[in-house]
Amino acid sequence: MAAPAVKILSWGTHVPERVVTNDELSLSLDTSDEWISSRSGIRERRIADDGEAASDLGAAAAKKALDAAGLGPAQLDLIIVASLSHDAPFPATASYLAGRIGADGVPAFDVSAACTGFIYALAAGRAFVAAGQATRVLVVGAEVVSRMIDWSDRSTAVLFGDGAGALVLGPAAAGEEGIIGFDLGNEPSGTELLKLPAGGSRLPARPETVAGRQHYLKMNGREVFRFATRVVAASAQRVLAKYDYDVSDVDLFVPHQANIRIIDAAARKLGLPPERIFTNLDRYGNTSCASIPICLDEAAAAGRLERGSLVLMTGFGAGLSWGSCLARW
Ligand code: ACO
Repeated sequence: MAAPAVKILSWGTHVPERVVTNDELSLSLDTSDEWISSRSGIRERRIADDGEAASDLGAAAAKKALDAAGLGPAQLDLIIVASLSHDAPFPATASYLAGRIGADGVPAFDVSAACTGFIYALAAGRAFVAAGQATRVLVVGAEVVSRMIDWSDRSTAVLFGDGAGALVLGPAAAGEEGIIGFDLGNEPSGTELLKLPAGGSRLPARPETVAGRQHYLKMNGREVFRFATRVVAASAQRVLAKYDYDVSDVDLFVPHQANIRIIDAAARKLGLPPERIFTNLDRYGNTSCASIPICLDEAAAAGRLERGSLVLMTGFGAGLSWGSCLARW
């Protein structure tokens, strides 16, 4: 018997007020608006205030998604947060977020799959509903990546931004397709290409790790770029083939927002015209787990996602991991 269909009931986002332009970054780093925008497509990003953590941004997005669904926090059965910039190593950022939205007693856990985390969290949330373990699931991507960045490293500092997006999942009505399915994967040979080396059980925090700047995100940009240009189109094609859809059926492609050249390369391979691709990384940079839900919210607000639209989302990131989701909006 087929599992019951699960759909996206509502959505919401929250980004910090503070806008940091490429020109502003160029005041403290040996870089330029010309370099950043031509190599990445990014023009500005949002940066959280000192007191703001991932759960704060995530809670603000979650409240909007709950309001849009007409639900209170007590009506949730599960909260899943995807992030690479957790409030703390533990407890889960989802626990902090639950406290901020007043979801007392609701189970809450985190998903850690770097920038692909949101797609993995969506797959987990969908599975809980389909298995009858939950009826309403809040799935949040929330990031304050700016705290993980070495602001003296121009090769990474210019690429990332902060923000959060949330979806509420629930059972689909009879005849509705909802979330159709996923393609998920991971290449462990690439673990060293993108990581935050210290602060875990392998390399605990010590004066030497702090002095060696090991608590900041490290990336081999060129290799990650190569991986992403290979994997985004391949994963998108796999999820379409798995569920008997063609790229011509896709109304909107929402890729993880890391670099416009990665998105353009994927679009070329897939044969998707610009009007069927959503991008906003010029305004937000790479917000990791928050990038896809922020795009969904903006696409819906702009009328580019309507009831019945077929949306294809593809994420990738450290792991090296990837994930695609095909859904009927
Ligand atoms: N300003 C000016 N020059 C710079 C900057 C900067 N901000 N950063 C690097 N450079 C220099 C380099 O030092 C290098 O100089 P050199 O040739 O003298 O050594 C030169 O620019 C070219 O550097 P490349 O790394 O070859 O530049 P490239 O065109 O590959 O672009 C970039 C770099 C934008 C990082 C690209 O490789 C990229 O986007 N990679 C993918 C990153 C990504 O998607 N990461 C997110 C993964 S998701 C997650 O899980 C977090």
